[in-house]
Amino acid sequence: MDTLSGRRALVTGGGGAIGRVALGTLLDLDVDEVVVTGRRREPLDEVERLAPGRVRGHQMDVAEDAAWTRLLTEVQSDGRGIDVLVACAGVARRAPYLEGRLEDWEEMWRTNVLGTLLAARHLVPGMSERGWGRIVLISSAAAHIGLPGRAVYGATKAAIEALARSLAAEFGGCGILVNTIAPGMYLTSMTEAFLEANPATAAAIRDRIPVHRFGQVGELAEAFRLLVTTTYMQGASLRVDGGWTAT
Ligand SMILES: NC(=O)c1ccc[n+]([C@@H]2O[C@H](COP(=O)([O-])OP(=O)(O)OC[C@H]3O[C@@H](n4cnc5c(N)ncnc54)[C@H](OP(=O)(O)O)[C@@H]3O)[C@@H](O)[C@H]2O)c1
Repeated sequence: MDTLSGRRALVTGGGGAIGRVALGTLLDLDVDEVVVTGRRREPLDEVERLAPGRVRGHQMDVAEDAAWTRLLTEVQSDGRGIDVLVACAGVARRAPYLEGRLEDWEEMWRTNVLGTLLAARHLVPGMSERGWGRIVLISSAAAHIGLPGRAVYGATKAAIEALARSLAAEFGGCGILVNTIAPGMYLTSMTEAFLEANPATAAAIRDRIPVHRFGQVGELAEAFRLLVTTTYMQGASLRVDGGWTAT
């Protein structure tokens, strides 16, 4: 049976909907400790209560380089490193391309791209030293198909997919496996308000998805499980989208 016993993991955005699925999967796999990051304290307190002593919340902005240094200094003060990274932190701002606000574009690039780059840059050296690491980055169906109002978000997610492939190429020889999950449309705080406010668009998306429904976040658990325990998947992008991007 697969187990991550003896390992320590980190989930960015682990207080969010999809991050909590990653967290639950890691705990089910018996990982010793999961460090969960986010900017707000309340979700971190909630996830700490899920498994007292095994989940450690850490408030930080993923796009702040110095915050990563502070995190690692604090967490690794016991001499143990972080073996598994799941990078879920992300933001999505929708707008017709020509009406997009520069501050929204910058927020998406900062969080989705710079935040993921920094996560990998800070965690890869330790994994490399120990000769073992698993990295799962979260992209999106928007990295694979064109969607109106999602040009910038899709571009940030395509950047994440490119990053995963290059990290896989550069660090595969160090025992580090890097893969991406590209979720389709899931009902979370990131999507629900938009889908409710735009029923015609919601129906059009649902119709285009071959299974004719949106995903439930729990349906991502098997993908997380596969990619944190795989011994040979490398540089892959797993599309878990009900077939949305296949059509
Ligand atoms: N929902 C979908 O249908 C869908 C589809 C494809 C891909 N995704 C991707 O899946 C990931 C998770 O999305 P979700 O649906 O679970 O949304 P969510 O519930 O809003 O979770 C997003 C998480 O990211 C954290 N975060 C945002 N900005 C941050 C920053 N600057 N620094 C640190 N943490 C930050 C948030 O925590 P704080 O606000 O406390 O910082 C939150 O925990 C995202 O990368 C998203 O793009 C979602």
